Amino acid sequence: MLKPLYYLFWFSLPSLALPGLFFFLLAGGAAGGDVGVAAGQEAVECSRLERADIEGRLSTKTPYRAIANFNETSPQYAGCRPTRIWSIIRHGTRNPSEKVILLAQSRLAEIKEDILNQSNPNLCAGELKKLRKWSWNFLNAAEDEKLLVAEGEDELTELAERMQNRFPSLLPDIYDPGWYFFKYTATQRTLKSAHSFATGLFGRHRIHAVRYPPPMHQDPILRFYKRCGRWKTDVDKNPDTLVNARRFLAEPQMQSAVEHVRSSTRLPELRPEDVQLMYTVCAFETAWRRPRHGDRWPTHSVWCNFFDVPALNAMEFFEDLEYYWNDGYGYELTHRIACPAIADMFAAISSSDDTEEQGPLRSNATFYFTHSGTLLKLLAHLGLARDEEPLTHRHFASERLWRTSQIDAFATNLAFLRYDCDEDEPHVLVLHQERVVRLPGCPLDKDLCPLATLRRIYADSVERCDFEELCQLKD
Ligand SMILES: *[C@@H]1O[C@H](CO)[C@@H](O)[C@H](O)[C@H]1NC(C)=O
Ligand SMILES: *[C@@H]1O[C@H](CO)[C@@H](O)[C@H](O)[C@H]1NC(C)=O
Ligand SMILES: *[C@@H]1O[C@H](CO)[C@@H](O)[C@H](O)[C@H]1NC(C)=O
Repeated sequence: MLKPLYYLFWFSLPSLALPGLFFFLLAGGAAGGDVGVAAGQEAVECSRLERADIEGRLSTKTPYRAIANFNETSPQYAGCRPTRIWSIIRHGTRNPSEKVILLAQSRLAEIKEDILNQSNPNLCAGELKKLRKWSWNFLNAAEDEKLLVAEGEDELTELAERMQNRFPSLLPDIYDPGWYFFKYTATQRTLKSAHSFATGLFGRHRIHAVRYPPPMHQDPILRFYKRCGRWKTDVDKNPDTLVNARRFLAEPQMQSAVEHVRSSTRLPELRPEDVQLMYTVCAFETAWRRPRHGDRWPTHSVWCNFFDVPALNAMEFFEDLEYYWNDGYGYELTHRIACPAIADMFAAISSSDDTEEQGPLRSNATFYFTHSGTLLKLLAHLGLARDEEPLTHRHFASERLWRTSQIDAFATNLAFLRYDCDEDEPHVLVLHQERVVRLPGCPLDKDLCPLATLRRIYADSVERCDFEELCQLKD
């Protein structure tokens, strides 16, 4: 697909150095160059935070561009070529839930008025203007909640383009229903994500031909946990699940984050929930708008300005705790119930004409479009991003692998590729966020893992996936 010029500009530079450089260009390059001075008042510097400081700390609201792998070179393994792919992908950037929209329209609008009513608000002239204009009244809470936004479409289209560039023989640009199998859940955001991904593969004029099976709310593979009564009562609706997150509210790092926002807004009465709301709105508004070449002003949300990096880190950690205990390693049941998806992966990459594997012949390329809850449980089932100790409210200062901003951004994706080799047994390459990962139990010094080894590691997932039994309500 033809790309506009800013893509070249944006993607042809090493991605790590970019956000800072981009900010530098946007801001006119001068530190302190944007200083708003009202007569007789102290000068307030604009944007004490750089976009990169914000973008990578937004937990599950992190836009995919913050973590994507823009290196499209195909990995090469001598004598082996990819013949199958099974991939599961979270929908892209979306609108907030109805609850968040309503809170932003009511409580955050109030906070905005309180700030603007101050004689000397702690914002530079440009940001003050942005705050005056800020409103979420363009959103209809009931109708617009959770809809995929334009950035979400771009995320999926570009992901498909990069995957196709890496694996052109496996992902041909002509659609064939025997070759490709796509499925999404019964939601607008996964439907649109699937369409956008197909657009990246086949082009927008050819996606009308793509066939999809009827979508389900409680798909046994794409959204297994929705069918698990026991997980709902024991984990999802269990008040103990969030005990660590709640305890973290009382830890000094969270307290100083709240203090920081109280002081930067000059609203000493703000509650921790207000600060969380500001963080969430900062996250969505940042995710929605990618910086475009020629933007004159930092495009991140005005609400981000009231945070500093330590405060963002505390907000991020709070969310990491929630997801760890609700959707990750916290309870064994949570990740065990991902077994139907793992079994489906093996069925898809094992089935071929030259093995004795059971089951019907599957397509060469399977793509599922689903939700954060599915991706996190799968990651934990696979043993990825696993810390040695369970994550608790005391672990803020420790290094951790469980970082939802990295592992569960919008458009988060996992892919299993089967490689057939001339002189060797079939192997599997595993990608998370388009980067090779080595699963526990696979060779530590090689990207490729023998399919037989992988089958052994997850034998229980395939052979003893007693989902009904695991999920039965016991009382
Ligand atoms: C890009 O990816 C290829 C294949 O995975 C790898 O060999 C190469 O080192 C990567 N290049 C950079 C600059 O990281
Ligand atoms: C597609 O899958 C079939 C097995 O069903 C396999 O024999 C064939 O090599 C695959 N094609 C490619 C190009 O990978
Ligand atoms: C704004 O401030 C004035 C004086 O400080 C106060 O009387 C008024 O109620 C405030 N308005 C709002 C909307 O808070």
